[in-house]
Amino acid sequence: MKKRILSGINPSGSSLHIGNYFGAVKPQIDLQNDELYETYYFIADLHALTTVQNKTTLQSNVSNVVLDYLALGLDIEKCVFFRQSQSVGHSQLAIVLANYIGLGQMKRMHAYKDKLQKGVDADSVNMGLFNYPILMAADILLYKPYGVPVGEDQRQHVELTRDIAENFNKTYGQEVFPLPEPLIRQDVGKIVGTNGERKMSKSLGNIIGIFEDEAVIRQQIMSCYTDPNRVKATDPGKVEGNPVFIYHDLINENQAEVEDLKNRYRLGQVGDVEVKEKLFMAHQKYFAQARKRRVELMGNPELVLEILTQGAEKSRLVAGQTVEEVYQVIGLSRYA
Ligand code: TRP
Repeated sequence: MKKRILSGINPSGSSLHIGNYFGAVKPQIDLQNDELYETYYFIADLHALTTVQNKTTLQSNVSNVVLDYLALGLDIEKCVFFRQSQSVGHSQLAIVLANYIGLGQMKRMHAYKDKLQKGVDADSVNMGLFNYPILMAADILLYKPYGVPVGEDQRQHVELTRDIAENFNKTYGQEVFPLPEPLIRQDVGKIVGTNGERKMSKSLGNIIGIFEDEAVIRQQIMSCYTDPNRVKATDPGKVEGNPVFIYHDLINENQAEVEDLKNRYRLGQVGDVEVKEKLFMAHQKYFAQARKRRVELMGNPELVLEILTQGAEKSRLVAGQTVEEVYQVIGLSRYA
């Protein structure tokens, strides 16, 4: 039996950058392609309501992230891909699970505490934000997955999910929900930003895009920080921790070229411009297929709708079963 993997993608932003790709998308796609696993990935569009309350923005964020994922190698032959809002069990189970967790624990969740820390009055915290971890627990437990690949920032949510599952199981004296494992890859969790900041993020303005116009990506690469102590191309430079070389290691599949650049950089025999030009060329090569595929998908919106409809149907088969099982256990089923 394959081990089931589940993860949700919050469509709160407009498009993916290489930090998202290497930190989240690629590990998810690698799991999809691994015979040992069966993967369920969904767009957490109900979760996005905590931050996106404009219809057009929400619609465009969702369609962008769907296109990005499909273009980057998500394969619906291998994985179940759907929108959370189209699989009604997520909402149904969230209402039930709220009864197996206390207010005290909810008040300790990071997203809520961060709001208070920023000076927001507790009384004006959005209840969608406060309840977010319960919806996320429902997302996960519906599919009884073995593992949940997420970033370090989501660890507390998976731990709360385990607590809710344990409380539920204990209440009814049955192992209804197996406890899911957080699958957190420390090595790729965070990709450094182009300004050398610890995390690449759109709001920090330190990204390298994937699908933007070539001129934009070229500009993003050409303005990357390198070794701050190196003044002239003839000064010996530092490779370790240098953003440009971190990106080369990720993107440039020509290892001999990367080694040659690193050696010459250390010796002061190559300028930043050449290193960056080669990075830009490597980016073009690495993402060529994805960029082409995204354009094709954009020209075929019916296909994209059909993909999501089929994904939602498949997800409902599993989700519906869990909701019925839960209803039976708690005494709400029509049948038992
Ligand atoms: N909260 C997650 C994030 O912001 C997205 C998410 C929603 C999720 N539901 C999930 C992740 C279920 C894993 C499992 O990244």
